[in-house]
Amino acid sequence: MKKAVVCCIIAISLLLNTDGNVFGGAEIAKASSISTYKTTANINMRKGASIKSSRILVVPKGKKVIYISKKRTKNGTWYKMKYKNKKGWLNGQYIKVVKTIKSVKHENTPNAAKVKTTKENIAIHPLIIAHRGGANHLASEHSLLAYKQAVDKKADYIEIDLRLTKDNQLIAMHDETVDRTTNGTGKVSDYTLQQLKQLSLSDGQKIPSLEEIFARFRKTTKYYIETRKVDGKTVMEDELLKLVHQYGLEKQVIIQSYSQDSLKRVKSLDPNISLILLLVGDTVKNVNINAVKQYAIGVGPYAQLIDKSFVDRMHQANLKVHAWFDHSNEKELIHKTLQYGVDGVFTDYLADTQKMIKK
Ligand code: G3P
Ligand code: CA
Repeated sequence: MKKAVVCCIIAISLLLNTDGNVFGGAEIAKASSISTYKTTANINMRKGASIKSSRILVVPKGKKVIYISKKRTKNGTWYKMKYKNKKGWLNGQYIKVVKTIKSVKHENTPNAAKVKTTKENIAIHPLIIAHRGGANHLASEHSLLAYKQAVDKKADYIEIDLRLTKDNQLIAMHDETVDRTTNGTGKVSDYTLQQLKQLSLSDGQKIPSLEEIFARFRKTTKYYIETRKVDGKTVMEDELLKLVHQYGLEKQVIIQSYSQDSLKRVKSLDPNISLILLLVGDTVKNVNINAVKQYAIGVGPYAQLIDKSFVDRMHQANLKVHAWFDHSNEKELIHKTLQYGVDGVFTDYLADTQKMIKK
């Protein structure tokens, strides 16, 4: 096995010049600057390598690919790898070739014309985030059962919208009021946690607190948590970070917000937590990339407002793109959005999205 890996590294090294540009003919698509992409070219490995043909995978500059394990499928041998960046370990991802490229040069202007809009352009294993826990007809959104189903189906992250109760407890709920999702009425902030527990979600379950969710799933999943300002103030972040630290989940959370102040507050409490700035409306086209880079790992734009050039622009700046949809337009937009090469999608149709992205 070791031999095969070495052969792969050598073979691919031969395809790279000292600047790290990819050689190999016009059929090899240029990689954009951040996400891991498959190219469209088949590369013959050296004699003796156990992989007869495979694909080049270009990793972001400075990221060291580390081989962990392999598995054989009818589609070939796949290697699970990790790569490391300044912020710490990222997710294990499946790639087809194991190698280390230390000097891949960033493409300042990815050649969009040469990047085919086929399945090959989908970033390798974009994160699949179970939106509101994988809102579906089987369980109420943001309920422990919805989260359990998403965890069982191996969503990469479960998404949690936060609200703060009258007694400063964080709960999982999207809306400001309990009207739409429970049998009660009124603002979450007018209820204590104990009072909220008297209400029922549409399927009879109880509203979970963030702590209950952490206590239930611990490190068996990852958490993609949305903060909001309350009355213009950043009041959720301290309690949130307290719980993240208490449960040792620093490396298993991404915190998202439309509020830069909120994200900056989180960063001040723990500079190692991954942060995503949500974008909607004019903030998508007007996003200040240099400002975002100071504190976040990427952006979370409304999918309807992006195109490939937006994704490329973010990747050139080394920013991730995690796109979200409305329940009503996800089916229409998701395939196109994945083709843009986004690094993650929030989905209400977990199983369908997982099928779309073969691991
Ligand atoms: O947080 C990203 C995405 O969830 C935005 O949609 O459901 O919070 O309105 P939502
Ligand atoms: Ca959300």
